[in-house]
Amino acid sequence: MKNLLSIGLSALLALGAVTGFSSCAEKQISTFEVGKGTFLLNGEPMVVKAAEVHYPRIPEPYWEQRILSCKALGMNTLCLYVFWNLHEQEEGKFDFSGNKDIAAFCRLAQKHGMYVIVRPGPYVCAEWEMGGLPWWLLKKQDIQLRSLDPYYMERVKIFMKEVGKQLADLQISRGGNIIMVQVENEFGSYGTDKAYVSAIRDIVKEAGFTDVPLFQCDWSSNFTNNALDDLLWTVNFGTGANIEEQFKKLKELRPETPLMCSEFWSGWFDHWGRKHETRDAATMVSGIKDMLDRNISFSLYMTHGGTTFGWWGGANNPAYSAMCSSYDYDAPISEAGWTTPKYFQLRELLQQYAPEGTTLPEPPAAFPVIEVPAITKWEVAPLFGNLPEPKQTETIKPMEQFDQGWGSILYRTTLKENVSGVLHIDEVHDWAQVFADGKLLGRLDRRHGEFSLPLKSALKKGTQLDILVEAMGRVNFDKSIHDRKGITNKVEVISGDKATELTDWKVYNLPPFYEFVSAKKYQSGNAVDGPAYYRAKFHLDKTGDTFLDMQTWGKGMVWVNGHAMGRFWEIGPQQTLYMPGCWLKEGENEIIVLDLKGPSEAKVEGLTKPILDMLREKAPETHRQDGQNLNLKSETAVHKGTFAQGNGWQEVKFDTPVSGRYFCLNALSNYEGNNIASIAEFDVLGADGKPVSRENWKIVYADSEETRSGNRTADKIFDLQESTFWQTVDNTAYPHQVVIDLGKEYRVTGFRMLPRAEKNVPGLIRDYAVYVKKDNFKY
Ligand code: GLA
Ligand code: CA
Repeated sequence: MKNLLSIGLSALLALGAVTGFSSCAEKQISTFEVGKGTFLLNGEPMVVKAAEVHYPRIPEPYWEQRILSCKALGMNTLCLYVFWNLHEQEEGKFDFSGNKDIAAFCRLAQKHGMYVIVRPGPYVCAEWEMGGLPWWLLKKQDIQLRSLDPYYMERVKIFMKEVGKQLADLQISRGGNIIMVQVENEFGSYGTDKAYVSAIRDIVKEAGFTDVPLFQCDWSSNFTNNALDDLLWTVNFGTGANIEEQFKKLKELRPETPLMCSEFWSGWFDHWGRKHETRDAATMVSGIKDMLDRNISFSLYMTHGGTTFGWWGGANNPAYSAMCSSYDYDAPISEAGWTTPKYFQLRELLQQYAPEGTTLPEPPAAFPVIEVPAITKWEVAPLFGNLPEPKQTETIKPMEQFDQGWGSILYRTTLKENVSGVLHIDEVHDWAQVFADGKLLGRLDRRHGEFSLPLKSALKKGTQLDILVEAMGRVNFDKSIHDRKGITNKVEVISGDKATELTDWKVYNLPPFYEFVSAKKYQSGNAVDGPAYYRAKFHLDKTGDTFLDMQTWGKGMVWVNGHAMGRFWEIGPQQTLYMPGCWLKEGENEIIVLDLKGPSEAKVEGLTKPILDMLREKAPETHRQDGQNLNLKSETAVHKGTFAQGNGWQEVKFDTPVSGRYFCLNALSNYEGNNIASIAEFDVLGADGKPVSRENWKIVYADSEETRSGNRTADKIFDLQESTFWQTVDNTAYPHQVVIDLGKEYRVTGFRMLPRAEKNVPGLIRDYAVYVKKDNFKY
């Protein structure tokens, strides 16, 4: 950083007095550095107030309005990821044009006096398909993503070089507005591999990002795992977290470093089939106040979440759970770019912390909103009547092996003999419909681990068996990012203890591209049973933003005027798709809907308000049947103890290890003296004293789960997210129990428990007893 300082100073001298960042045409050379306890902009202390926004989640014609909204909120910086898989959809073919023009986005920010923090990954998480990594990496069977795997690293280098070509010259030292660049993303929650993180740092530098501070972002619980000496360390946490506690370790290790929360979560993301997420505005604002009072820089993730258009939504695992298309995130600026009560509460605070004598500009006007009268006249193209040329394969292979990245894939075979028993598909990624001679036999949903379909009656030799699999988003978090689609391994018929693998398949690729879906043979007609494409024209006198109401449709995707708008699914909670007016036309417009299930009524209306919170599936799933009570009377505890007060992980070792598959924590009392028990994350320690894999964990029982105020079910103790938690309802008294099926037997030596992250640690359990058994408990 010394080097940088001297370059910076000479630049300052050469220019005479530099007044700071300006939007005038003449480029001013500035510096941004890591100083003692503060960031320095041209040598002056600066608190970074960054707004996280994602350029592909905003239509390009709306970028400026969103940037101005962030500025009017009181932010001085924009923070953005670079999404590798968006720019390199085909290996070696890069696209940085239009909505993908990151440099144009940065220049637009500069025009309005905003700085930029760039987070080029290569992995970004972000609830984005595969965390931003290109699917075609998975064509290599043994690839180890986010490691020193030679092929992976070779591709990372090529990509990062392209990013450098776009953005390196926009570093602040070169007259641009980029003040910081991130190296990898939360690698601590993926693994421990300093060699890999160092290699990524070097690649980022080689790409030209040599002039501004490079930083790592992680959780306070794991940032030391991969922390590199020459990078700045920042931490991520959400609304409600105890700020002092979050920075405690960091301050101890680096007393003089400027502090920054690189992701302060304003809200949270939505999954299909789960309750819409919100976070309290006042709590969010008080967290930011707390940071500003301590001169802590922050980036508010998200300040404006926007929309995950097309097929770009990711998923979490375990249990597999795909993301909704809306990325509203309960952020201060809504999905459609509207200011919200949260926005104005935060703005009031940020006005108080604005540079002396300055008043925040007024937020720009929102774009006009229109209603679109119900579209009911469709032309239809049944999916099975419109199949492309098939490929032939002896054995089942995942989608990637047929050179397909996204969409649906049909596996078809003709039975060579009569079969009966259970059809086992290993594994369905992610949602399958099975047909025999065109008749629907059943559906399998990966979210529920449904990979087997009992055959109600025998299927005769010569039957045409069709398995139509829709790929939802690739997992964007943890090791399961190695998420191949279609059918990943094989299809068998299991009868008694005999398993017969089905072979000799025809494979039909059904990509989600407009060129593909628009080229079907559409014929005027009514809704048909089963999967079909629907096309309609609609006329508009004037354009404006609207929300396409998909409530009467089953499951699929929508395209308007060639733009892939996103996925819909009747189960909700999202029922409308945000349709930006800038992609509509005065006069004739075209809409195409692929419905894999079929609509109850083929009708699309444009509403003036979104519906993001209408869940139509019995969810979130709780883990106790009516009247079911865990009976521990005849069980002996393997360990009894008392948790300590305060935030942070607590580790417990048993005096004697014990073997078992079912783990029960019986919480006997808490510190607050109320009824609530809460746990954010939980690990069981194996023979080597390290956490055992949670990949196949299942909650078998939780006596109480709060689902009225949020998603507080017991599976949140192993969803890998430290900011989500299990919480019991407030009118059910202690004791509280959770029983975990570890998936297989382990030699259990202890466990780790992470309480909630808030200062007052709500629901912190005091006394507890632990039970471990080879067989399930009695209820
Ligand atoms: C982490 C990641 C982000 C995003 C958030 C949750 O902090 O770094 O990309 O996934 O979680 O929204
Ligand atoms: Ca959690």
